[in-house]
Amino acid sequence: MRQLIAGNWKMHGLGADSAALAEGIKAGAARAGGLACDLLVCPPFTQIAAVARILAGSPVVVGGQDCHAQGQGAHTGDISAAMLADAGATWVILGHSERRQNHGEIDELVREKVEAATAAGLTPIVCVGETEEQRVGGQETEVVGWQISGSLPKGFKGVVAYEPVWAIGTGRTPTEADVATMHAFIREELVRQFGEEDGQAIRILYGGSVKPSNAGALLAVPNVGGALVGGASLKAEDFLGIARGAIARRP
Ligand code: PGA
Repeated sequence: MRQLIAGNWKMHGLGADSAALAEGIKAGAARAGGLACDLLVCPPFTQIAAVARILAGSPVVVGGQDCHAQGQGAHTGDISAAMLADAGATWVILGHSERRQNHGEIDELVREKVEAATAAGLTPIVCVGETEEQRVGGQETEVVGWQISGSLPKGFKGVVAYEPVWAIGTGRTPTEADVATMHAFIREELVRQFGEEDGQAIRILYGGSVKPSNAGALLAVPNVGGALVGGASLKAEDFLGIARGAIARRP
């Protein structure tokens, strides 16, 4: 399966910046004459429709960074999965650690959001990962195991992103051996939860301080099915540089 390189633009970008970034990625992807990976960008809500229009007809697809668990209703300030789809998104990031920490999202809510996203035809990327304290305490696999069993519904068809919280936006990354250990553990959990065939088919992204200089090594680790990129996805050249590190292979 092809690796997926996903850009999480977070709360960055007014109209002109987002359009320029989308144009840059589109042009770079075309110049590359076909990259060995799938490309996804997740702009803030306000830019999704404009970015989707720019990227229409290109191999780059568009996603949201969150959605509500309900289809519609009295939820001031929230956005439903169907609204994301209507704006041109086909993917959505759910349960990112910034949502879990800043908005008190727990596994059960993330699971409901995954169900809502799937029902609206979006492919969810569900984020899991331990804090620094949990890793120092040797609890990282236990924590990630609970997040996986709590956040993924029955029949899950999507992508999992392992993002150690302490590696996000810090410039620090786990060693390749630590990434290999965690991704092998996640694979085992997915196979246990969804059976051999479906569990093996789920792509497991690594996220946290991925940049062009470390992408090749991280993407070569067994069971790494791509990358979820924050800061380095805000520059077309860096995002494409990471994509060039991707390799075509089984998840
Ligand atoms: P980072 O963010 O690449 O800036 O570390 C990753 C993420 O939060 O998805």
